[in-house]
Amino acid sequence: MEIKQFCARYSMDRVGTNSLKWDALDKRYGDKNLIPMWVADMEFRAPEVVVNAMKKRIEHGIFGYSYVPDSYYNSFINWERNQHNYEVDKKWIRFSTGVVVSLYWFVNAFTKFGDSVIILTPVYYPFHDAVKDTGRRLITSELINVNGVYTIDFEDFERNIMENDVKLFIQCSPHNPVGRVWTEKELDKILSICKRYNVLVVSDEIHQDIIIGENVQIPAAIVSGAKYADNIITVTAPSKTFNLAGLLNCNIIISNEKVMARYDAYSKTINKTEVNIMGLTAAEAAYNYGEEWLKSLLGVIKHNYNHVKERLGDKAPKIVVTPLEGTYLIWVDLRGYIEPNETKTFIQEKCRLAVDYGEWFGENCKGFIRLNMATNPKYVEKAVDNIIKNINCL
Ligand SMILES: Cc1ncc(COP(=O)(O)O)c(C=O)c1O
Repeated sequence: MEIKQFCARYSMDRVGTNSLKWDALDKRYGDKNLIPMWVADMEFRAPEVVVNAMKKRIEHGIFGYSYVPDSYYNSFINWERNQHNYEVDKKWIRFSTGVVVSLYWFVNAFTKFGDSVIILTPVYYPFHDAVKDTGRRLITSELINVNGVYTIDFEDFERNIMENDVKLFIQCSPHNPVGRVWTEKELDKILSICKRYNVLVVSDEIHQDIIIGENVQIPAAIVSGAKYADNIITVTAPSKTFNLAGLLNCNIIISNEKVMARYDAYSKTINKTEVNIMGLTAAEAAYNYGEEWLKSLLGVIKHNYNHVKERLGDKAPKIVVTPLEGTYLIWVDLRGYIEPNETKTFIQEKCRLAVDYGEWFGENCKGFIRLNMATNPKYVEKAVDNIIKNINCL
């Protein structure tokens, strides 16, 4: 579907719908009149098939305890097979109400208080929190940034693992916020280091379907002929792909029986809620029939990213926009114009934007911002215009 057509059909005003992104601006930023380019959800309605499946479920009117039907498993297994070449066995699947909550569970289940857990920074801030909040030691290995292109410092990663006796690595693939879709070579290298030092890998693949550039997204569990599968826990969800985050539905994949037994034993101790019937209904419909909608959405994201890249490249060339290979979140380095400590004043008071700030993602990232491209192009255009206008006034 054309971008204009997609937006006319799916773009919605979200004000007054208890939207965190729009209705909590005042609470989060102290100003309710900003253009919200922050939290990772979208201004687009889910595909009609999803809404209709939910309507049908609602009309039945009974919302008692639920279990996961085979039809759900099949929809998810087919999605992974068709989209990612990943053959998932039903018995490897578990559920949770979100990726972030699952990260906390994995840290608790597979490490002890005081153990070291490693992450590649800058990275989605709940990765930091899941380690720190549970009383583990946070070890960070900084990605190498050359003109906005990020790569892994494998030597630093390995040294950190050795020196800190790291037990767990939380990977982000594709990587939020630097937009990388890791190549098989990169994944092989990092997973082989983990295997060598007996470091269990949690691979957060929530952005697996949002692929914008040329690189193919490869699930960690099938890298190099599934050589590392035994050492990997994969966590993914339909929430980013189909804008379903509020429905709290997430898939966990563990193929190693011993790891699964330990996870299941841990699950018992927290007596966790398994499934939300509306989330399951929505996800099943999305996995079964949402592919066309997703293709159109990817066109909008790419269009928005290209707009930012071209306009800033033309009018504010000292701003570095990191190439977007995957995710719908772009990472922008403003330091060519703005003193890092002035970023917030510039972005909020002058440009009137609500963004995610660089320092939320990593220690040395003050002066960077993250902008959400999964929105109506009119907001992206306005955001870019405001940045350019205010840079010209400096
Ligand atoms: C890498 C990553 N993991 C997890 C999440 C959130 O997942 P959930 O809403 O299922 O907790 C996000 C949301 O932006 C994300 O970017």
